Amino acid sequence: MTGVLLITGGASGIGAETARRAASRGYSIALNYRTRDTEAKKIIADIETKGAKAIAIKADMASEADIVRMFEETTKAFGPVTHLLNSAGIGRQMRVDSYDAVVLATLFATNVTGLMLCCREAAKLMSKKHGGKGGAIVNVSSMAATIGGRSGSSAYAATKGAVDAFTKGFAREVAPEGIRVNAVRPGMVLTEMTEKRLADATFRNHIQASIPMGRVGKAGEIADAALWLLSDEAAFITGAMLDAAGGGYNI
Ligand SMILES: NC(=O)c1ccc[n+]([C@@H]2O[C@H](COP(=O)([O-])OP(=O)(O)OC[C@H]3O[C@@H](n4cnc5c(N)ncnc54)[C@H](OP(=O)(O)O)[C@@H]3O)[C@@H](O)[C@H]2O)c1
Repeated sequence: MTGVLLITGGASGIGAETARRAASRGYSIALNYRTRDTEAKKIIADIETKGAKAIAIKADMASEADIVRMFEETTKAFGPVTHLLNSAGIGRQMRVDSYDAVVLATLFATNVTGLMLCCREAAKLMSKKHGGKGGAIVNVSSMAATIGGRSGSSAYAATKGAVDAFTKGFAREVAPEGIRVNAVRPGMVLTEMTEKRLADATFRNHIQASIPMGRVGKAGEIADAALWLLSDEAAFITGAMLDAAGGGYNI
């Protein structure tokens, strides 16, 4: 596999694990991060140790200007993006009676609009219609999209439902232009996003009892699924939602 892989939200969790594993697959890697300068530098060093090229790009995925600049900087360093993993995302625990318009706007700006604008920029570079060579995109959705989220996660679930619907429609739009677009839907995975809640044994036991495999996932298990969807092994797959969730939910 060769190509230029851009990973948003790449300095922690699923994005970071994907970056580390992508290093041995022949990609040049552009690692986007927002606040985690130290972690981003460490991941770049780890990737370079494996002999791959990598740069870190600080950019806010809720800002259109930052997204455009991130694609420009990637192209300048390595050439046009050929593979994109949209992993940047935020979770919010809030019931409907505590919804706040500003918080909702930030949630959707990051998880939905930012992801869609990253896809726009990638499509312009990848599309055979625009002189590109094609490419592959994976959007990190969530199993929350399938059930409306666990208690207190309805707003977050709504953003991931939007990601799923967008992924399906966008995939059909650009399939004739050589671009594959898929989503991976993790269940509960131990990452920086969930570690505080999962440190509570009662919560963790409750969650694990609801998962057919009886455990939460690892970031590497999601990274492997995403890297497979990005790879040529998934050459005839587009518009798919791949559930990586230990069997979903016991109901
Ligand atoms: N962990 C789970 O159980 C789980 C389950 C289903 C889906 N997911 C999804 O998986 C994806 C990755 O999450 P994760 O579990 O790996 O958690 P994570 O470690 O918190 O990763 C999310 C990353 O996104 C970055 N980010 C957030 N807002 C950003 C912005 N505006 N611009 C750029 N980067 C931004 C964060 O950086 P900063 O901290 O610097 O903002 C963080 O590094 C997310 O889309 C999440 O919704 C996770």
